[in-house]
Amino acid sequence: MADRKQMHIGLFVFPHGHLLGSWRHPDAPRRAAFDFQHFRRVAQAAEAARLDMVFLSDTVAERENQSITPQATSFEPTTLLAALATVTQKIGLVATMSSSFNEPYNVARRFASLDLISKGRIGWNLVTTSYQPEALNFNRDAHYAHADRYRRAHEFAEVVNGLWQSWDDEAFLFDQQAGRFFDPGKVRRLDHVGEHFSVRGPLNVGPSPQGRPVIVQAGSSEAGKELAAATAELVFTVQSDIDEARAFYRDLKGRMARYGRHPDELKILPGVSPFLGATSAEARARYDSLLELIPVPQALAMLSDQLGGFDLSPFDPAQPLPPIPPSNAGQTRRENILRMARDGNLSLRETAVRHAVTAGHLQVVGTPSQTADTLQHWFETEACDGFNFKPPVLPVDADAFYQGVIPELQRRGLFRREYEGSTLRSHLGLAVPRTSINASQEFSR
Ligand SMILES: Cc1cc2nc3c(=O)[nH]c(=O)nc-3n(C[C@H](O)[C@H](O)[C@H](O)COP(=O)(O)O)c2cc1C
Repeated sequence: MADRKQMHIGLFVFPHGHLLGSWRHPDAPRRAAFDFQHFRRVAQAAEAARLDMVFLSDTVAERENQSITPQATSFEPTTLLAALATVTQKIGLVATMSSSFNEPYNVARRFASLDLISKGRIGWNLVTTSYQPEALNFNRDAHYAHADRYRRAHEFAEVVNGLWQSWDDEAFLFDQQAGRFFDPGKVRRLDHVGEHFSVRGPLNVGPSPQGRPVIVQAGSSEAGKELAAATAELVFTVQSDIDEARAFYRDLKGRMARYGRHPDELKILPGVSPFLGATSAEARARYDSLLELIPVPQALAMLSDQLGGFDLSPFDPAQPLPPIPPSNAGQTRRENILRMARDGNLSLRETAVRHAVTAGHLQVVGTPSQTADTLQHWFETEACDGFNFKPPVLPVDADAFYQGVIPELQRRGLFRREYEGSTLRSHLGLAVPRTSINASQEFSR
């Protein structure tokens, strides 16, 4: 066991990296988005670096405004996760699935099944979906209102969690002599009837070596934080200011007691994009050269998307941001963008480009040792429990991070040198939840 508290680090995978325009980089493999072997190499490299997990995000609609980026058309994440589970052994595997456009039984079943395939390495990123056009692919003219989609998400998570507790840990007997595969007294129906869902259960997939998948959440609005405090075991968040990150950390962990939970039962990971160089000057030069890959019209379109589809085209890009009304899209992003523009006194064009570098997440420009200093400072002053690593360009920036920053963190005793266990819960220091069912709750047909 390590004697010092350890950071948790996950790799957030975009096929070519997180910088808008990363696919145009000369080192970026052009067909990466459609090439499973690319994802295999990326996941295996993250495992060799002993990262906690790889994370695959998801959008269930083509982003018209980003039609020249490969993100719009890559693999469906849960099928990709199943494939990655067969070519990795230890690393955690997390994917997004929206509570707004799915049924809880399907989600519970798919992730439980993935958790068995991977022997307990799966996490489900529960999002309510902020990208409005996704609704158009699911029989709706418009997305649910913000408060409604979070109410649905609370009930959705309750049902999924309930279904994951359908089977007692000792339910499966595999008794060939007696002909008893499982003990019917140790299976439970859910019989859930609520505002949005009516689900009888039980789930037709049993528990995994980590009990059940880890629940992840990534919304930071009031409703998002409340959902996370009630249900999440891991939170991804956008933070670029350490004081705000600390306030977010305190706020979210402070809400957990209301749900009978201990703060350690939830790990908070802000995103970080390191721009590395052997010297500070080299790192700065790399950062500047990468900015040139960002197409300004597309950066403006992405900004418009993040501001809930607010049309920026009538405005002069050389002028400051016009007043932006609140929308039904993600609330946290809007506030972060407006603050960045205001604090930096930026023009509309500068705001769009700066935002497009890492979509508002923390950027660190420096040597591996300087980068480790920043990560250590955030970690040790309770701004986070670790990081969601967002390489600007894949695989080059991931390789540089594994060769430079990870060994530096290991030398400082802040990051594991070897995995201690083989499940995502074990990497995250989360207890394995037990399910114990007594005969009075017997499953009847
Ligand atoms: C690291 C990170 C990953 C996210 N991944 C997804 C995703 O895969 N799909 C999605 O629809 N939203 C994703 N989101 C968006 C959030 O889940 C959420 O919808 C958004 O922040 C708006 O929620 P809010 O209004 O509570 O802030 C992600 C956010 C963060 C910070």
